[in-house]
Amino acid sequence: MHRPKLAIGLVSVALLSGVALVGSASAEAGPAATPAQAGPVPAPPQDRPAADSLRALGDRVGLRIGTAVNMDELGSNADYTRITAEQFSSVTPENVMKWQLVEPTRGTYDWAAADRLVEFAKKNKQLVRGHTLVWHSQLPTWLSSDGYTTTLSNDELKALLKKHIQDQVKHFKGDIWQWDVVNEAFDDDGKPRETVWYKAWGGLGYIADAFRWAHEADPKALLFYNDYNLEFTGPKSNAVYDFVKTLKAQRVPIDGVGFQGHLDTQYGFPDLQNNLQRFADLGLKVAETEVDVRTFTEAAPNVNTPTDPLASYAQESYWSRAMKACLAVRECISFTPWGFGDTYSWIPGWFDDPQEGAALLYDGNLQPKSQYYVLQQDLALAAGAPHRPGPGGGRH
Ligand code: XIL
Repeated sequence: MHRPKLAIGLVSVALLSGVALVGSASAEAGPAATPAQAGPVPAPPQDRPAADSLRALGDRVGLRIGTAVNMDELGSNADYTRITAEQFSSVTPENVMKWQLVEPTRGTYDWAAADRLVEFAKKNKQLVRGHTLVWHSQLPTWLSSDGYTTTLSNDELKALLKKHIQDQVKHFKGDIWQWDVVNEAFDDDGKPRETVWYKAWGGLGYIADAFRWAHEADPKALLFYNDYNLEFTGPKSNAVYDFVKTLKAQRVPIDGVGFQGHLDTQYGFPDLQNNLQRFADLGLKVAETEVDVRTFTEAAPNVNTPTDPLASYAQESYWSRAMKACLAVRECISFTPWGFGDTYSWIPGWFDDPQEGAALLYDGNLQPKSQYYVLQQDLALAAGAPHRPGPGGGRH
């Protein structure tokens, strides 16, 4: 099922940079090398990623390739840690910057796991997407057990949200590239979600306040609104579009909109490029922030075996179209799958009736799947396209 690893163009790139030669040359040369063979080829500098890694290919087209990171694995699981460093130029904490984890007890912060990720990112020349400051989900139980009800007063909630945003953004000041300031504030029908924040403010006013507080705390960070089901034109993406347009008109410091991109082969592929582009046309950056492509699978424990043997073809197509949509929109600055090994994906636990899974680029043994090679080739081919910002993939 796996595709040949490199497109022809890439072979020459890899050979030119010497990267593809290093492994085999040094292994074969060994201690028996004669002087005529000039000894082992020196190892490349540790800080240069392999030319065929997603991150290096993304650099060539000015696109950061990210991943969500599970901090239970980073540092303790050698393969997981190596792939995180080698393949990705941006990281998002899957959970450890959420309010539930940073302030489990009221008034006591625990930044340890998030700090560890920021250090890892610096060491590996990666940028960090901070995720997420204002959300109804994964709140500490002392604040709300379901995101919609609470025993705290409106005034208390307002003061708490301000302090939370200021303290967290200041703690990571200078280390965060993009913050998901507000996550999932609208329902699928396009109505505001009536969360504890919505109720405390008596409307959506909490969102403008949140962006302003975050901007004061770290003026250089890019500030994003992030949500799912913005990928297709419909009541939700229309409502969010109208809303962020109003924020821009009111000069609220919003820089971008994140399209989560939790895709599923049972639905048609969304008009994603159109939606990325129309938000970008408002003067915003856009990003694909949590991409995965789930499909129906066997029951536990085989949740990563698709029931349809042809499912991987649909998944390859969805991954490829999601990547190309980002590549085609100049303002799309990062493409982030929500993790990279099916064993660590949130999908089987979340979508289990009927069972879905197999949603990521690497299988349960952290081996790249055909979906990985498709993205590799899309990025390589895009390197010839004229309209992206060009080499470096610098800090936008
Ligand atoms: C998920 C994590 O992947 C899970 O580990 C956690 O149990 C629940 O949250 N939208 C988001 C992400 O913005 O934060 C969610 O992450 C997935 C959906």
